[in-house]
Amino acid sequence: MKTALGHLSLCLLVLSASGFPFERKGSTPPGAKEKRVQYAARDDVNIIAHGLLQLGQNLKEHVDKTKVQMRDIFNKLKAFNRSMSDMGKDSLRLQARALEMEDREGQLLNVTVELRDKAEEVQQERRTMSERMSRIEEKVDSMLQGDKGPDIQLVLEAQSRRMEELAERVRLQQDKLDKQSTRLRTLQSQIQRSRPRPEAHAQNSAEEQRDSPVEMAADCHQLFLRGETTSGVYTIQPLHSEHFNVFCEMTADGGWTVIQRRQDGSVDFDQPWEAYENGFGSLNGEFWLGLDHIHTIAKNGSYVLEIKFSDWGDDSASVRFPFKLGGKESNYSLRIPDSGTFSTLESSLGTDAVLGLPFSTSDHDNDHKVDMNCAKHLSGGWWFTNCGRSNLNGRYFQSPPPKQRHQRKQGIFWKTWRGRYYPLKSSTMMIAPADIHKLEKPTGS
Ligand SMILES: *[C@@H]1O[C@H](CO)[C@@H](O)[C@H](O)[C@H]1NC(C)=O
Ligand SMILES: *[C@@H]1O[C@H](CO)[C@@H](O)[C@H](O)[C@H]1NC(C)=O
Ligand SMILES: *[C@@H]1O[C@H](CO)[C@@H](O)[C@H](O)[C@H]1NC(C)=O
Ligand SMILES: *[C@@H]1O[C@H](CO)[C@@H](O)[C@H](O)[C@H]1NC(C)=O
Repeated sequence: MKTALGHLSLCLLVLSASGFPFERKGSTPPGAKEKRVQYAARDDVNIIAHGLLQLGQNLKEHVDKTKVQMRDIFNKLKAFNRSMSDMGKDSLRLQARALEMEDREGQLLNVTVELRDKAEEVQQERRTMSERMSRIEEKVDSMLQGDKGPDIQLVLEAQSRRMEELAERVRLQQDKLDKQSTRLRTLQSQIQRSRPRPEAHAQNSAEEQRDSPVEMAADCHQLFLRGETTSGVYTIQPLHSEHFNVFCEMTADGGWTVIQRRQDGSVDFDQPWEAYENGFGSLNGEFWLGLDHIHTIAKNGSYVLEIKFSDWGDDSASVRFPFKLGGKESNYSLRIPDSGTFSTLESSLGTDAVLGLPFSTSDHDNDHKVDMNCAKHLSGGWWFTNCGRSNLNGRYFQSPPPKQRHQRKQGIFWKTWRGRYYPLKSSTMMIAPADIHKLEKPTGS
């Protein structure tokens, strides 16, 4: 009996846990939703029907077992009956067997009690079973009539929420595609104008081609919008640029293109200008993506820069700025628009970059210190001002850091978080289109 119930509850569990089999990434037209839900409900009825079958089988087994026990008891009774009649025949030995008879009587009593108990037990079990059966029947009935039980209702609601999210993503993707196709058409008409010869066929085929958008994504967020949700190395191709590999940090709100990561000191960040321009390190470990690549990604639109860092107590903090990064001609000037006032935490980079802050390396000294080369004095390349505000490309010090200040100050630091002489444990810098904010959900789902 226990096992039968176990089977049933297992079935129900599987049903409620597995959700519905039609949840797929990609473009599901919302119109097909209701039909699929019907199919799903039928599947569930099948699962429950299978559970019922199992239950019936187990019930039958139990009844068989009880039958055997009853037969045993019956045999005992028969034996008793026989000895009773034997005794009736042999009345002379009746007295002699009086004692034995008493004993037999006791046995009879015991057997009778046993029998009655057994019968009651069977009765009771039959009642519980029939109750369970009718409850299941009710559930199946209500499911068939579309009046779903509370569990099913919940699952369906969750499902429809997911469908809505998917539809929203599809819509966003559609927007992007529309924009791209508009851009393509503009370009096409420009080409057409510069080549005044009538080429109707060529135009038609180009018109058709814009419906097959196998264009490479321009950044990680576009990959996210195309359905990629796993962080890792991807190839992107920003507008008017070669394609190259980046590490994408896929979060709930979008795809971030990681431009810098420090975590273990495995890569030497004390590099010359050319290395900072083109990038170095390993995308799966520590790296600097390269000023040229960062500029290429962020130049066409509004972008935000997010910086996260952690200390050796595994505390962490982060800042987020809207930003512009100039090209080579500006020495990759970082400009962070004045958003009223910067918070104390933000001020280690924000305040100095309001008017644009060029990048510096030891062989390209563009910092604000007249008498000092910050990159040489400290280490690595950064948007240095007076050498003392921040440098996430400094030397990596394991804990505990060196005792001497002049050494420690070459480390990775963010003055307004852990101070000028605290070498941080890790940092990550990543960028994404500013409209990523619009996709953020109030609570993570
Ligand atoms: C007991 O014996 C009587 C008479 O011999 C018979 O009618 C009856 O069916 C027997 N009962 C059982 C359980 O064997
Ligand atoms: C009847 O059952 C009781 C307790 O179950 C036991 O002590 C007694 O010996 C039994 N009587 C006979 C005659 O088997
Ligand atoms: C992005 O590129 C397109 C096409 O080159 C251009 O029309 C648009 O102005 C650019 N947007 C920004 C913000 O630079
Ligand atoms: C860029 O850096 C070089 C080398 O430090 C410097 O000579 C040049 O003047 C800088 N250009 C601008 C626009 O700041």
